[in-house]
Amino acid sequence: MITLCKTEDVKEGNSKGFEVNGTFLFAVKKDKQLHLYHNRCPHLGTPLEWEEDRFLEGDGALIRCATHGALFEIDSGQCLVGPCKGKTLHAIAFEIQEGELVIDESRLKQPMAF
Ligand code: FES
Repeated sequence: MITLCKTEDVKEGNSKGFEVNGTFLFAVKKDKQLHLYHNRCPHLGTPLEWEEDRFLEGDGALIRCATHGALFEIDSGQCLVGPCKGKTLHAIAFEIQEGELVIDESRLKQPMAF
């Protein structure tokens, strides 16, 4: 198991990027719930953030791809608007252990090719 961060390190309405042995992930906290995804847009497979740890559009309600502006639901990872509409971000299973965001590194899989 690998600890990514303390749960409090991802503030409400914000996001945070991680790298685990060459795999890039990001977490978003919404309504006190954490969501963890591969940092790959289902359109072209590019990283999503427009600045370090900045994965959300203006009011923080949706995830936005910096390359072509696709918008994704935070809860489901589904693309609502953009060239990959209907596709979803690849969610990563995680656990909260003693206030830390933890993943099983062996279960990290590369998302399907786009
Ligand atoms: S690469 Fe993300 S919308 Fe095109």
